[in-house]
Amino acid sequence: MPDRTPQQPEPFWRDHLTLPQYPSLQEDLEVDVAIVGGGITGITTAFLLAESGVKVALIDASRLMNGTTGHTTAKMTVQHDLIYDELIGNLGEEHAKLYYQANNEAVEWMKAFIQKEQISCDFSERSATLYATTDQYAKKIEKEAKAYDKLGIPYKLENKLEMNLGELNAVTIPNQGQYHPIRYLLTMLRDIEANGGEIFEQTAAVDIEDDAQPTVVTRDGQKIRCERVVIATHFPFYDGLGFYFTRMYAERSYVLAVKSKSPYNGGMFLKVDSPSRSLRDVTINDEQYVLIGGESHKTGQGIDTRKHYEALETFAREKLGVADYPYRWSAQDLTTLDKVPYIGHLTESHPRVLVATGFRKWGMTHSTVAGHLLHDLILEKQNPYEELYSPSRFRPDPSIRRFLSTNADVAGHLLKGKLELPVSQPENLKYDEGRPVAVNGRRAGGYRDHDGKLHVVDTTCTHMGCEVEWNAGDRTWDCPCHGSRFHYDGSVVEGPAKKPLKLLNQELKNSSES
Ligand code: FES
Repeated sequence: MPDRTPQQPEPFWRDHLTLPQYPSLQEDLEVDVAIVGGGITGITTAFLLAESGVKVALIDASRLMNGTTGHTTAKMTVQHDLIYDELIGNLGEEHAKLYYQANNEAVEWMKAFIQKEQISCDFSERSATLYATTDQYAKKIEKEAKAYDKLGIPYKLENKLEMNLGELNAVTIPNQGQYHPIRYLLTMLRDIEANGGEIFEQTAAVDIEDDAQPTVVTRDGQKIRCERVVIATHFPFYDGLGFYFTRMYAERSYVLAVKSKSPYNGGMFLKVDSPSRSLRDVTINDEQYVLIGGESHKTGQGIDTRKHYEALETFAREKLGVADYPYRWSAQDLTTLDKVPYIGHLTESHPRVLVATGFRKWGMTHSTVAGHLLHDLILEKQNPYEELYSPSRFRPDPSIRRFLSTNADVAGHLLKGKLELPVSQPENLKYDEGRPVAVNGRRAGGYRDHDGKLHVVDTTCTHMGCEVEWNAGDRTWDCPCHGSRFHYDGSVVEGPAKKPLKLLNQELKNSSES
């Protein structure tokens, strides 16, 4: 049994593996394509390009596969929640069909790759099921099934599942899959190097100089000169006046790995009404466990994040009768205005810089879609999905409505945080307690760690000045505006912010001495 308790938010995927380590970049480099971001998107893109004879360098700010890729539930499916009826309504049947085709090809490509390379990544073919427990959402499931009909997606609509999940109805797509994402990617990493690619960890890109030749600049001052740059950093680390922070919003969600008392029949499930619940099984130390996910909310907003894990525990107990839950973790996902990712040229004025972002929660297939599309764009090959995913697309409705509400929400948070002056004082914080505190009559953020050390930061987000909120589940400061996250010591966990929160420990010391 792994030595984990629910108090430690660590995903299962990385825990039991010895992962390869790569050096940090120590000198300037010249390659054909620099790929920034070592998650599944960056690795897949680097793999495909290297296989085609392109000289690539793949860099990551910390360790590879440690962002959203390492915190996924790893469902390999075209069933991306309720989406196809909405896509037909908003974008038209042709675009909805392209979306399905792109992801279906991704599922088939991944299966064939696993088969061809004989990768032992716990792949198993599974059906994917959406189920509803309310009348309102049962009707939506019926509409989704009608959309499947229009798009030629095979499915089964039923009123009763083998597992009793309280469903009124459910729609199932056969022949999807689940797997272990890190084991899968290790094969690609090996092949990137075998094909002459270079890989660097602890190498943070901070800027792109897009002059005569695009150049990635690292935090330590090294430069990677290249013909093309791929940004695969989840939130793009470089915006190029694409205003991505106004066109996406960030959500957090939570996962528990549980040892079920009741047998689990092995399907992949997603409850579509609120609160959403995602289920799939996974093998840990030769025993079957169930991954239960859900409790999505906008980053930096909502209840004490520990309550989300408690809600998942309650669900697990009620539906599965839980004996043990050795792992828990959370993930961050980005959603675009029309729910279709941005994959392609960053902006029209930066065509040599390419980006892939905004996968909603469906990065396992979209990373493969992105890898192939970026590969084709870089090698100037035709790709049928270029227009669908183009970041420069303009689809007026519902994009404009969502754009306005997303940004009005930001304005509200900007104002609200500035007006609030906390009553708590930093010195009153208990061990492992974090919260907004007052320092010199201003709002600050305090956390007392397990050793009793106090960490006090300025709660003004270094991206655009919103006030960050405490995330007790992950011990981070999260920004409600565009989803930046900071460790309790102020360092950046996740962008768009690039700079750490200002440390106020000295100010606190001065004020207590005066
Ligand atoms: Fe934009 Fe914080 S992430 S203001």
